Parts: sequence; structure tokens; C-alpha cells
Amino acid sequence: MQAELTPDIALHRARRDRVLQQMGAGVLVLATAPEVIRNRDAHYPYRYDSHFHYLTAFAEPEAVLVLIAGPEPRQILFCRDKNLEREIWDGFRFGPEAAREQFRFDTTFAYDALDDELPKLLENQPTLYYAIGFDPAWDARMLGWLNTVRAKGRTGVSAPSALLDARAIIDEMRLIKDAHELALMQRAADISAAGHVAAQRVCKPGMGEWQIEAELLYHFRKGGCQAPAYTSIVAGGANACVLHYVGNDQPLHDGDLLLIDAAGEYHGYAADITRTFPVNGRFSGAQRDVYEIVLAAQLAAIDAVKPGNTWNAPHDTALRVLTQGLRDLKLLTGELDGLLEQEAYKPFYMHKTGHWLGLDVHDAGEYKLNGAWRTLQAGMTLTVEPGLYIRPSEDVPKAFWNIGIRIEDDVAVTENGCHVLTSAAPKTITDIEQVMHHGTR
Ligand code: GLY
Ligand code: MN
Ligand code: MN
Repeated sequence: MQAELTPDIALHRARRDRVLQQMGAGVLVLATAPEVIRNRDAHYPYRYDSHFHYLTAFAEPEAVLVLIAGPEPRQILFCRDKNLEREIWDGFRFGPEAAREQFRFDTTFAYDALDDELPKLLENQPTLYYAIGFDPAWDARMLGWLNTVRAKGRTGVSAPSALLDARAIIDEMRLIKDAHELALMQRAADISAAGHVAAQRVCKPGMGEWQIEAELLYHFRKGGCQAPAYTSIVAGGANACVLHYVGNDQPLHDGDLLLIDAAGEYHGYAADITRTFPVNGRFSGAQRDVYEIVLAAQLAAIDAVKPGNTWNAPHDTALRVLTQGLRDLKLLTGELDGLLEQEAYKPFYMHKTGHWLGLDVHDAGEYKLNGAWRTLQAGMTLTVEPGLYIRPSEDVPKAFWNIGIRIEDDVAVTENGCHVLTSAAPKTITDIEQVMHHGTR
């Protein structure tokens, strides 16, 4: 196994410095995610908030970041106190003192001191940066703290008069990945690709979707991912035409395709991979025909990922290849440009060709600026994931019924084009059949 990549604390502090510079003046308050109860005393696995993690690398729940901009900037963390009793039951807590040193804050407070200390930090600040509406419980607390400050008005203290969304600054920063983030994403991609290879090796008719899911999850965790990046889709046969199928509880049949959309998360960074292959290891004629169209669309779309192209260029490229392919299969008739204009592909391809990828599988960052698709630039990371989903219909020859195919890779925009992070997961028909029959390509 490769050596563990650990968070670079200096980098997280430097990100906070950049946020402070962009704020100019005012105070930013950002809470991490709450713990969520699943049922009774059982919690969902804890996952920190992505924005909070990006700026702190602090992974404990009940923590709040406060940044005060201006001539004397301050970086402040509220976190849980040390508590021997709780640490015996639930594990280690840094506590404010160790957290200040380890995570390079100027000041730290106990989380329990929020109601006393936070209003003081809002005093006389012109602007409050905050994740407005993210969590109604937090909105209520924040309004309470603002009112506490306002109540002191006669003593000459003022409350922030402007409220801005903190995420606007952080989202734009998150959109461009630094070298450390790219290394984490490459690791998430490598581990996840190994899971897909394992799934291709073991898959046989008669197995269940859940058994393939188990194989994937085993490899994600064994490779070092802390969690799956999202709920795995393991969809045999007709289930592949259900875009968000997550039941994963049906048997796999000889002659069907299997669509797997699954990947792991490594120190917060997601991979997002889809592969589609025949349960029995050999593509049938109709499966092959549709697969080659989706693969051609995907390769052409990846070619369109380069600096200077717009966000939508890969999607437009994929649509053209898919629509031409549907004409070739005689599933659509008419002239290509007209079919594209009418969106005639929509019954077979109803989603976009990708999304930003990073700490969130559908990552932060605007897709349009001032109404126009934004331009791709080095450091952006995105998925490229065209597909075709052919449901039973009178207008469609039976050989194509229930063929659902998506091929999804993760790519990083480079200075000259792009780098495919997930190329270790086989996707040509030859490679897939080789791996399924001989274990390797
Ligand atoms: N796995 C989620 C997506 O492909 O967008
Ligand atoms: Mn995706
Ligand atoms: Mn996906």
C-alpha cells in the first residue's frame, strides 16, 4: 500500500490568509457539520463540512471558524474542550489549547463559550460573512448573536450592517485545486479504480448486485479511503436505466449489462467513476454498438477539456457524438443539427456530461459567470460522464431495450489540456473483456 498522504496544515492556514485578504474587512463565521443521528443511539458516520475542512483540516464535530479581517487579522477556532469521560467513550479530542498549536490558529475558545464569546467578535464589524440558510438551527443562533450585539447599541457598539455569503469567496478558491489537492484526488481515483478492476474480475452471472457493491466497498476501504464518496450505484440490466438506482439488491443475469457508479473519498476528496460492462464478460452486438457510441462521445468530450474552452464544450461535444450515434443506430431520424436543436437525444440522454469534483462529489464553484459558461483553466477538476439509457418502447428495436451505459472519468485541467485521473479503470471493450477473462489487460 502507498504511504498515507496527510493534511498540510501550513496550506490550510495560507488558505485562511487568502480569505482574509479577499474579505478586506468584516468577520467570517463558519461552522462545521453537525453529527446526525441515524436511529436511537446510532449516528451516521461523521463527515466534517467541506468548506470548514478546506480552511482548517480540523475534523472534529462542534467546531466553528471565525476570521476577523482588517489591519490586525485574527484566525480563531471554537472547538470541544478536553473531556476525559467523553474521550474514554468516544475518543481523543484536541481541546482548544492543542488545537491552537497544531492547526495554527491565533486564538481558540471552547465550543461551550460560543454564546459568550461570539457576539463580542461581531461587535463593530461592518460585514458578516456567513453560510446563509445552510442550517436553520445555525441561522437562528446567528440571528440571536446579532441581536445580542444590537442590544448593546446605546453603549456605542454596532452590529454588522451587511450580510454576505461566506461561500462565494471559498467556492471560487475551491474550484482551482492546488498540487496537494490534486495528489489527494489522484489517490482517491487510484483506489477507486482498483475497486472497479476488482468488480470486473469477480463479476459472474448469478451473483447479486450487493455482492459487487461489497467488492467495491472492500477495495475502497482497504486501499485507504475513509468512506465511499457517495452511495454506490450497482445496477444490472434494466436498473441501469434508473439514473439514481441505489437498491443494489437484484441478481445479475447472463446477457445483461452492469452499470457501476461508485468511488471512494480520500481525506475528504472524492473520486467519481462509472463503468459499464457485460455480466458474462462478452458484449453482445447491440451492447457493443451502443457502448462504442458512448465511449466515442466520452473520448471526444475529454478532448474538449482544455484551458480556453468553455465549461459546456465537453457537453456540446458529447451531445453531437451521441446524437450522430443514435442516427447511425436508426433510433433517431433527421438531420444532425436539427436533432441537436430539438434536443431529440433527451429520451436517451437526459443529464449533463459532468460537474466539478473535489471535496464534494458535486463540488463547489459556479458554472456560469455573468450569464456565460465559464472558461476552463488549469487546476479545475471535473467529471466527464456521457451515457445512453434505452428504455423499452415501441419505437425502439427490442435488441436495444434496457441497455443503460455510462462511462465516467475524473479529469484535471492542465496548462495544455487535461489529465485523466481515473485512467486505471479499464473502459475500452478490449480491456474490459481482457480483465473479465484474464484478470488483467
Ligand atoms: N456519482 C454521482 C454523479 O455521477 O454525479
Ligand atoms: Mn459524476
Ligand atoms: Mn458518478
